[in-house]
Amino acid sequence: MHIVLLGYMGSGKSTVGKKLAEKLHVDFIDLDEYIEEKEGSSINQLFATKGEIYFRKLENIALKELMNSEDSFVLAVGGGTPCYSNNIELINESDFSIYLKSSIKELYNRLLKQKDDRPLIKDLPGESLLEFIGKHLFERLPYYEKAKLVISSDGKEVEEIVDEITLKMQ
Ligand code: S3P
Repeated sequence: MHIVLLGYMGSGKSTVGKKLAEKLHVDFIDLDEYIEEKEGSSINQLFATKGEIYFRKLENIALKELMNSEDSFVLAVGGGTPCYSNNIELINESDFSIYLKSSIKELYNRLLKQKDDRPLIKDLPGESLLEFIGKHLFERLPYYEKAKLVISSDGKEVEEIVDEITLKMQ
């Protein structure tokens, strides 16, 4: 069984994904970590030395590899993954693709504290972040909304989100 979690940076894909995998007794894979291990380099380093286009190629190859595997897993993809190449189609070959939907305000509050390991926002001044997220999310929404399931995460505990997902999966 393949389950893919998608959504904007800071939407809680990894946190929710880990708990969901635990509950379903399958492996959890974070696509960024999978790429980092394969390349022996952090996402920040890859962006800085090879550039975003190179990263997007690696991301597409890694996604294909995982989607072709017979193993069961919950996979959290990067915020940009569904928006490049044929990735959303690949993602939708899984049994469940789930968009973790969060409001701009909630994403902003989370990302303000965790922007350093995210190359697309790490150099933005805090006061530009809210506007950046608003525009960027708007551009990405058409891809996110192709997911088979949409779960709102605002104001919810991780366990609540996981329960909601498993309920919707039935
Ligand atoms: C990106 C999101 C990141 C990572 C890379 C690019 C994006 O993943 O793949 O920095 O384009 O939104 P997270 O969503 O896990 O932060």
